[in-house]
Amino acid sequence: MPAITGALALGVLLSGAIPALAADPASGKANFIKCGICHRVGEGARNVVGPELNGVVGRPAGVVPGYDYSQALKASGVTWTEDSLRAYLARPSAFIPGTRMTFAGFRDPAVIDDVIAYLKTFRPDGSTAP
Ligand code: HEC
Repeated sequence: MPAITGALALGVLLSGAIPALAADPASGKANFIKCGICHRVGEGARNVVGPELNGVVGRPAGVVPGYDYSQALKASGVTWTEDSLRAYLARPSAFIPGTRMTFAGFRDPAVIDDVIAYLKTFRPDGSTAP
């Protein structure tokens, strides 16, 4: 019994510690202001300067209907996983040379993780999942 109690206590400790380290969608939302100049998310999101980003995590690059992508992005063969998004958002033109996304990139990897966590809350139809 004491071993089980100890394990439970450790579990509680760890589960208390993990959220503090995990990516934070609320911070991501605040930082998405920089993306929001060119991108929309949420219900009814449309393509503006950049393509709408609903459900982008897990989606192949360059597939939003009606958006006129650069040849570079269309031919990239990239799928937007968390890893490829990390690389693109750190320095778009280094990850996909010739991309038309003129965003310098985020310096802080934690900010990038937060923005990805925020993007993950949007399903492809623009509704939100916690
Ligand atoms: C100045 C405008 C601008 C800003 C700011 C900007 N983007 Fe973009 N983004 C674009 C354009 C334009 C494209 C299309 C690029 C191309 O066709 O090469 C794009 C493409 C993308 C793509 C690829 C989408 C797809 O369907 O393949 C992702 C993901 C993306 N942007 C995320 C972001 C995020 C996240 C931010 C904020 C950190 C951001 N962008 C900031 C203009 C911008």
